[in-house]
Amino acid sequence: MTLRHLATTTRDGLPLVLSPFTADDVGRVHELCQDPEVRRWTTVPDPYPRSAAEEFVLRSTPPAWEAVDAGAFDANREGPELTWAIRVPEGELAGLWGSSGLRPLGGGVLEIGYWLGAGARGRGIARAAAALLVETAFAWPLNADEVRWYAALGNLPSARIAQRTGFAYAGVTRNPRCGDAESWSAVIRPGDPIAPRDDWPDLSAGLAESSCEAHCPGGRPMTRPGDQEWVLPTACS
Ligand SMILES: CC(C)(COP(=O)(O)OP(=O)(O)OC[C@H]1O[C@@H](n2cnc3c(N)ncnc32)[C@H](O)[C@@H]1OP(=O)(O)O)[C@@H](O)C(=O)NCCC(=O)NCCS
Repeated sequence: MTLRHLATTTRDGLPLVLSPFTADDVGRVHELCQDPEVRRWTTVPDPYPRSAAEEFVLRSTPPAWEAVDAGAFDANREGPELTWAIRVPEGELAGLWGSSGLRPLGGGVLEIGYWLGAGARGRGIARAAAALLVETAFAWPLNADEVRWYAALGNLPSARIAQRTGFAYAGVTRNPRCGDAESWSAVIRPGDPIAPRDDWPDLSAGLAESSCEAHCPGGRPMTRPGDQEWVLPTACS
């Protein structure tokens, strides 16, 4: 397997390729990141000028690939995110549609992150990409011990992906890299089935209960009995 070309299909048979961003992607990244949902739920700059796309593609994403090439990418040490463009190689949707990544948090833990352009949502693309990334995280050469998912409270589309990919819901944590905002969190470990879990709480009910809007660090905690409290050492997704 080469990390630079990961392939899968959605459950409807749409082929997907995950590969590094290249200089040719700058314009498309700039275009896709104008979407308000991407800016609302991720840490991409808002507003998002072309220079932000250049920064992301040309300067932020290469170091982790250089580390991979040098055999120095290590889930046991904090480091830059290993980022893949999500591409549809053929058909009416052919082209670049999003980004997905694994960020080493140290201790064998990789944090998963993803976003998708509005025109490609609801087709299972993010779900297929997330499953592929989890498989990749646990295989050689990344060999992670755990993949973690974090999302701002209220990001139900992202939570559905984590739940359907087999992450175990782990409660709410404060995320210092996001101004101590509370985040939903979940984990998956090697050997866990990459398949939907039926033991997640109803997160939408929790939101209604607490009247808590997304990105509400001052909102009421949503921790439930048995929830773990984690403190993230580094970044939010
Ligand atoms: C999160 C995101 C990548 C999901 O993309 P997507 O294309 O909707 O994902 P998928 O089509 O693979 O959907 C996965 C599952 O979630 C469900 N789902 C997705 N969006 C949903 C929504 N708004 N409401 C209800 N269900 C939803 C899908 O039905 C699907 O379930 P199924 O497989 O049982 O049908 C996309 O909404 C996005 O880019 N959002 C902005 C950025 C973001 O939030 N990133 C995550 C930060 S933690």
